[in-house]
Amino acid sequence: MTVDVRVLDDPAAGTARCLAAAANAGGHIALTGGSTPRAAYEQAAALPGDWGDATLWWGDERCVAPDDERSNYALARDSLIARLDPAPRVERIEGERGSAAGAERYERVLHRAFENELAPRFDLLLLGLGSDGHCASLFAGAPALEVTDRWVVAVERAGLEPFVPRISLTLPALTAARETVFLVAGADKAEAVRRAFGPQGDDLPARRVAEGAAAVTVLLDDAAASELRGAARKT
Ligand code: 6PG
Repeated sequence: MTVDVRVLDDPAAGTARCLAAAANAGGHIALTGGSTPRAAYEQAAALPGDWGDATLWWGDERCVAPDDERSNYALARDSLIARLDPAPRVERIEGERGSAAGAERYERVLHRAFENELAPRFDLLLLGLGSDGHCASLFAGAPALEVTDRWVVAVERAGLEPFVPRISLTLPALTAARETVFLVAGADKAEAVRRAFGPQGDDLPARRVAEGAAAVTVLLDDAAASELRGAARKT
């Protein structure tokens, strides 16, 4: 697993720079949800750059309305998209359709966009890390983690709050990006960071993504890196 683990004073700023660079290149960018990325999205929107040729995707979504405070799309809309001019093309996951119908639709949309590819070749995939080691909405021990014949899967039972049905990219889709960045911050993630990215870890969804993806960078703050022995370097 060749993972570049970096401990930064401001990992959100590092993430923002990756996002702006991918956007300026007119790339396909897959966003993450949760709460951690908000600062990165706000900083990315404030950096110089033209998002007009970029396309935004999501690694997962909650099955709620797009204006629900739990929506991963709503997070990006408010902290990033609404602040961009020109705006990027936005291909959100329509969680309001329900997990099965929403997953089927997103699978079709992705196949149209990446029609000649074996998997969606995002230029940049941004992921977070749950305190249980999940990423996107792939939770340890869940059937969705083992799905390999599709790019998008319905997740009826979330393993962490919010406990609503989800729609998630599958491992084949989450390991196909040209560049993958995990943004993880806070002491509550320190154990999951060690288990997912440390030298002796556990078979967690985030480790499976890191082991299967091409170019993985893990951006941490000091607190999230506190249990990681030796693998992190101060920059
Ligand atoms: C989601 C996210 C999820 C998130 C982690 C970390 O839909 O919940 O995509 O994978 O990245 O749960 O979330 P926090 O940043 O809120 O800790």
